Amino acid sequence: MTLWGGRFSEPSDDDLRALNDSLPYDKRLYREDIRGSIVYALALVKAGVITKAEAQQIEQGLEQVLAEFEADTFALKPEDEDIHTAVERRLTEIIGETGGKLHTGRSRNDQIATDMRLWVRREMVGINNRLLPLQEALVEQAAAHVEDVMPGYTHMQPAQPVTAGHWLMSYFWMLQRDRTRVDVSIIHAEELPLGSGALAGTPLDIDRMVLGFNSELQFEGYTQNSLDAVSDRDFVADSLYALSMIGIHLSRLAEDLIIFSNPLFGFVTLDDRYSTGSSLMPQKRNPDPMELMRGKTGRLIGNLTGFLTTLKGLPTGYNKDLQEDKEALFDSVDTMNKLLPVITAIIRTLRLNPDRMRAALDENMLATDLADYLVKKGMPFRQAHHVSGRAVRLAGERGVKLSQLPLADLRELSDLFDSDTSAVFDFDASVARRRAIGGTAPDAVREQIEEARRLLE
Ligand code: ARG
Repeated sequence: MTLWGGRFSEPSDDDLRALNDSLPYDKRLYREDIRGSIVYALALVKAGVITKAEAQQIEQGLEQVLAEFEADTFALKPEDEDIHTAVERRLTEIIGETGGKLHTGRSRNDQIATDMRLWVRREMVGINNRLLPLQEALVEQAAAHVEDVMPGYTHMQPAQPVTAGHWLMSYFWMLQRDRTRVDVSIIHAEELPLGSGALAGTPLDIDRMVLGFNSELQFEGYTQNSLDAVSDRDFVADSLYALSMIGIHLSRLAEDLIIFSNPLFGFVTLDDRYSTGSSLMPQKRNPDPMELMRGKTGRLIGNLTGFLTTLKGLPTGYNKDLQEDKEALFDSVDTMNKLLPVITAIIRTLRLNPDRMRAALDENMLATDLADYLVKKGMPFRQAHHVSGRAVRLAGERGVKLSQLPLADLRELSDLFDSDTSAVFDFDASVARRRAIGGTAPDAVREQIEEARRLLE
């Protein structure tokens, strides 16, 4: 018999059960569910619904249920519909009728809304804690390659030289914002919904303040509207978005590493432990983990868009559609927890090949610097851009490097060119000039790294 079987004359159809039951996936909420119930029992004492002794009995029973889950000895029964019913069923088996008093004034609606918030809080804190070592690894690699110059790209075409440290640090800042996004999802889960009942609130004298702040649940606040409290899962969507954004950033880093580890580039080498071979081609060294990083981002985004679509247009109050929050969120968190340790180790063990980076530099990447040279001598930038472009074209036509164009030829394009023009063709000088805050100059990157380290403390 289900917990709500009273008004039905026949048990549920098996196929309905297979669709309706959430226990197969929500059983991992057992800790949250039991912690919430222990605290709720104490609130029932204060409300005069149960005696202290009964609450103690309930607590001891729940501790045993918890121990069974922890030891993986909890025996599921066919009538267990979800984690809430399973825990209550077992509690009643252990302590008898008193177990049936626990649900007084409570609904599975405020219960699951509480469980999910507790879970989000714990797991999203875990995500942030796993982002930190990745950020640290990026900073350490960046610090080791502050001076190494590599091609910078826009449209994946060679654009301007940058330092490798600058490239690596760009991902640090993306992840820094991701951590804020994770924090936001936690903040939105920081309100306790328990005491909302099914939708209208509780008629019992439940002290929601005590439930929230002063209990071991330690919420920062309590929800102000019972209908809102049980019927929204925006904090789950926030979490899914934060995880998607992390995935998107990781997928970009992965794509860079896939390209830069290709022998045509050879800028980086993945450690053997994080490269994979081919069953057929003996020479292969494949970046499988990077491709999974990229590929799994698809499912993170899928979980987000799927769940947003679930939420859209739901009418007031609790709707069973909300049960869909779990598989989406669990999957995204599990996926991220698999990705983060691997990418962290990959960055930590990544070998950068400064010689290959330098060899890939092409003087055309200094065309902007050539224009800047003319600007310094008084030419408006628009015109300087044009003159520099013509120099690039001329060098291309002659099949020589930009720096190999005779000064006489350059002077035909503009008489502002002089013997000091040759100083432009220096990649290190080019990056060193970009030393304003946020620029790629080694000095600016050192400051960036200092700021990053301060933030990581
Ligand atoms: N398993 C349900 C969920 O995840 C719990 C709440 C059930 N409430 C209800 N009225 N059927 O949303």
